[in-house]
Amino acid sequence: MARLQDRIAIVTGAAQGLGRAISLKLASEGARLALLDMQAAGVEETAAMVRAKGGQAMAWAGDVTDEATVTDLFGKIHAHYGQVDVLVNNVGGSRNMKIWEMTAEVWDFTIRLNLRSTFLCTRAVLPGMMARKAGNIICLSSGAKEGTPWSAEDKGASAYSTCKAGIHGFIRDLTWELSPYGIRCNAVAPGPIATEKNAPMFADQETRLVHPPSRMVPMVRLGQAHEIADAVCFLASDESSYITGVTLDVAGGR
Ligand SMILES: NC(=O)c1ccc[n+]([C@@H]2O[C@H](COP(=O)([O-])OP(=O)(O)OC[C@H]3O[C@@H](n4cnc5c(N)ncnc54)[C@H](O)[C@@H]3O)[C@@H](O)[C@H]2O)c1
Repeated sequence: MARLQDRIAIVTGAAQGLGRAISLKLASEGARLALLDMQAAGVEETAAMVRAKGGQAMAWAGDVTDEATVTDLFGKIHAHYGQVDVLVNNVGGSRNMKIWEMTAEVWDFTIRLNLRSTFLCTRAVLPGMMARKAGNIICLSSGAKEGTPWSAEDKGASAYSTCKAGIHGFIRDLTWELSPYGIRCNAVAPGPIATEKNAPMFADQETRLVHPPSRMVPMVRLGQAHEIADAVCFLASDESSYITGVTLDVAGGR
């Protein structure tokens, strides 16, 4: 039996990178997917990749930092699948800037992208999960929760680090609020992962920086997207049934 057979799983930010890898992994373990992203073509492509491997996936396009959009999309997902068993809050990112140059607009953009999206999507799945007394929420934090020598040295990542530490606090509190309803909440904190977007940036930093990504990782290598997807799948499955409120570092050591 596959580890997530017939569970309904939402993955946000599924058009590329870690979201795509997580989608393919969860589907390979039998989950039926609702995939969300702002990039309509990219998220359709991920759904097509899942279906080409014999899995089930529907794609929806929209901005998950927008309250009305989240209400609308999650209503459609519930109407289509009837319930949601797993939510992966994967949307996140950064516009890096040194703190003395950072505009309030860039600060707000980063907080909104990482934290508002996570809050809105989490709140939207809770009525169904609480009624059924079952559910599983996994959020993407980052090694940045304790600072990012590799990106902060280069361009400044304080807003992003603030958000990813915030994800840890978020799941810690949710654990107390939601355990009575049978809902588990965990986070995965990736180190530097060679996604299609980040790999060129990391390669460039290796040649320029005093603290390049690989030298800040005890295993002295970048991570691969499938290594994050494997950790998310573990937390989404019953193999982690006694784990909640944990941020799991998947970062090549610490
Ligand atoms: N790649 C890494 O090295 C790394 C390391 C640590 C943490 N993370 C975290 O993992 C997650 C995924 O990272 P990634 O590298 O795959 O990112 P990415 O930028 O490659 O992909 C993010 C996806 O989210 C979508 N998206 C962005 N804003 C959106 C919005 N408002 N509404 C809907 N969709 C939106 C994008 O279109 C894109 O498909 C993020 O939370 C990131 O902070 C990544």
